Amino acid sequence: MRLVGTRVVLRDSSQDSDDEDLFRWLNLEEWKYYDEPDKPFIGISREEFNQRLEARRRRPRKPSPNSRGWHVDTTEGQHIGWVNYYHLDEQAKRAYVGICLPEEETWGKGYGTEAVRLLVDHLFDEMELQEIRTATWTGNKRMVRCAEKSGFAVAARMPHRAEFSVRGEPLERIEFSISREDWPAQDDVGA
Ligand SMILES: CC(C)(COP(=O)(O)OP(=O)(O)OC[C@H]1O[C@@H](n2cnc3c(N)ncnc32)[C@H](O)[C@@H]1OP(=O)(O)O)[C@@H](O)C(=O)NCCC(=O)NCCS
Repeated sequence: MRLVGTRVVLRDSSQDSDDEDLFRWLNLEEWKYYDEPDKPFIGISREEFNQRLEARRRRPRKPSPNSRGWHVDTTEGQHIGWVNYYHLDEQAKRAYVGICLPEEETWGKGYGTEAVRLLVDHLFDEMELQEIRTATWTGNKRMVRCAEKSGFAVAARMPHRAEFSVRGEPLERIEFSISREDWPAQDDVGA
């Protein structure tokens, strides 16, 4: 399935070059800091990466019923990251969304916000969820802004699992929420 925007396209199918992109991304430090600021950066060797690929080929993981991911490509076809939903609660009709654009050159160009909007639109329209959440830490200003621009409002602030990041920044978890009623039709949203 492809979800097509004006800047990015979300695809759930794989292409040959995805693994090589992932290998490069797993050796970039900056995005990992913003994603998991309490975890020291450890890259991955070619050998270990190949072993993981081989293990996955031998024993493919069963798709999880509670989560699903899409690759994010620019409309020009550059593979720039991924989005996903997770912790899907069928009863509450609620899920969390996550996003990662690992290469710094792609940040601040509106790709993240459009990718999140496309996924949220899909979750409300096609999966008929009632509430969508996203979470980050207060020091991740790009993600905080991306959530706000995507229409989310702050739902809760709470202690992070660690008090300080590996770079010494104080950590606080922040959760955002948007309800189906508050989600404007995609045509009404400005870029
Ligand atoms: C967070 C992320 C998904 C956002 O995507 P993006 O494409 O960079 O976001 P956008 O360009 O749509 O919006 C970013 C906004 O943050 C603003 N911003 C950037 N740096 C900022 C800073 N230091 N302080 C405040 N705002 C900042 C930008 O100006 C922009 O807002 P604007 O359009 O009002 O000017 C992306 O940067 C990323 O993947 N980062 C690394 C991994 C990560 O943090 N993932 C999320 C984990 S929870």
